[in-house]
Amino acid sequence: MNSAAIDGLLAALERVPDNVPLRINVAKLLLQAGRHSEAIDHLNIILEVDAANTETIQLLVDASAGLSSVTGAGHGIPEPGEAPGKQASRDFDWHRAEQELGQSLPAPFVSDESHPGPPALAIDGDRAGGALFDVDRPAITLADVGGLEEVKKRLNESFLDPMRNPEVAKAFGKSLRGGLLLYGPPGCGKTFMARAVAGELGAAFMTATMTDIFDKFIGETEKNLHEIFEAARRAAPAVLFLDEIDAVATKRSALSGGAAWMRQTVNQLLLELDSMDSQNDGLFVLAATNQPWDIDNALLRPGRLDRMLLVLPPDRAAREAILKHHFSSRPIAGIDVQKIASRTEDFSGADLEHVVTSAAEKAMTESLRRGSVQAISMSHVNEALKEIRPSTRQWLQMARNVVEFGNTSGAYDDLGLYLRFRKMI
Ligand SMILES: Nc1ncnc2c1ncn2[C@@H]1O[C@H](COP(=O)(O)OP(=O)(O)OP(=O)(O)O)[C@@H](O)[C@H]1O
Ligand SMILES: [Mg+2]
Repeated sequence: MNSAAIDGLLAALERVPDNVPLRINVAKLLLQAGRHSEAIDHLNIILEVDAANTETIQLLVDASAGLSSVTGAGHGIPEPGEAPGKQASRDFDWHRAEQELGQSLPAPFVSDESHPGPPALAIDGDRAGGALFDVDRPAITLADVGGLEEVKKRLNESFLDPMRNPEVAKAFGKSLRGGLLLYGPPGCGKTFMARAVAGELGAAFMTATMTDIFDKFIGETEKNLHEIFEAARRAAPAVLFLDEIDAVATKRSALSGGAAWMRQTVNQLLLELDSMDSQNDGLFVLAATNQPWDIDNALLRPGRLDRMLLVLPPDRAAREAILKHHFSSRPIAGIDVQKIASRTEDFSGADLEHVVTSAAEKAMTESLRRGSVQAISMSHVNEALKEIRPSTRQWLQMARNVVEFGNTSGAYDDLGLYLRFRKMI
């Protein structure tokens, strides 16, 4: 249909603006003509009077997909020179290693299928920039995070999907705001997961590590916090990640001695989070800690960091995925990841990485000794396993006390469930 015909229908619609079937037809025609944003406007008008119109919602989904394929949002292609997630596995010079070894190496067991790469969001990094936080764009994406399927799902639902499809989110009455606290034992992927989300969102993701924003001058920490939030608001829709939030938000009861400055910082944080309601539609705060029970309760009330998400030690399947990921960029021979995964219960992601790097060091030492490249074998891994202890047990023991004696509000029900499943309580 040519645009003159569409214009005719638009004129008719002006005379009968309440005619929903006509407006749906106009929207469809606009979509066919590639005029996605106009179609979206009409669909939104329909949804204002009939929010449950499924045909319209479906069209909106199609229109948003069409729009993002035009603008690149949600379907990003890695920028030139940018490494896609699994680049590391391709970076290893197999040919050279084989030449040095004088024999062929087994293929890596991680499939080398091409990685889709992080989608690009059209947000100007400079607008959001500032010395207090990073807007770097890690090459990792959620696909690089082993296991933690439930956490990934919740992160997708709470802000990745709404950020990619703002029009659809609007149709469902979901706006991007609020906060979520990731918690769990050290080394199990809270920061890594957040970096992966950053990889997905590009400049729309800002990281501020709380231990870095301290200033020796009283009052500067609050100012720094305010600046971070202001910059994040300017970049909205955006996700602001406050890592190691316990560093600035510990309960007074958990502190030894008067720490008035900490109280001030908590107050500033509360102020910033509360103004999210009014000023910061489009700002989502993600925070991480391994001591949620020490966080000032005021920060966890509704409208603030009101959802908690447990990032657990990797289960067996996740351990396999993490091991594969870390082995994928190294020369290996006869590595049985399943066996290693079954022998590493309670190992954190960081512990597993340590196992791989330490096995790699052993293979390297042996290579130097023999004067030829020795691929990493199970014997190197076994040696490494003798030296590395799982680091999450201590945290789980501490968590047990919290669940047994301090879970009156039910905030740690997830944790309780896990500990019961592990027969620790
Ligand atoms: N699920 C995972 N998949 C892949 N790698 C992981 C995973 N979890 C952890 N790792 C590896 O372990 C390292 C440490 O994890 P990370 O720093 O995210 O832990 P954390 O939960 O933030 O710990 P902390 O509480 O000490 O800050 C990561 O850089 C990554 O290499
Ligand atoms: Mg961390």
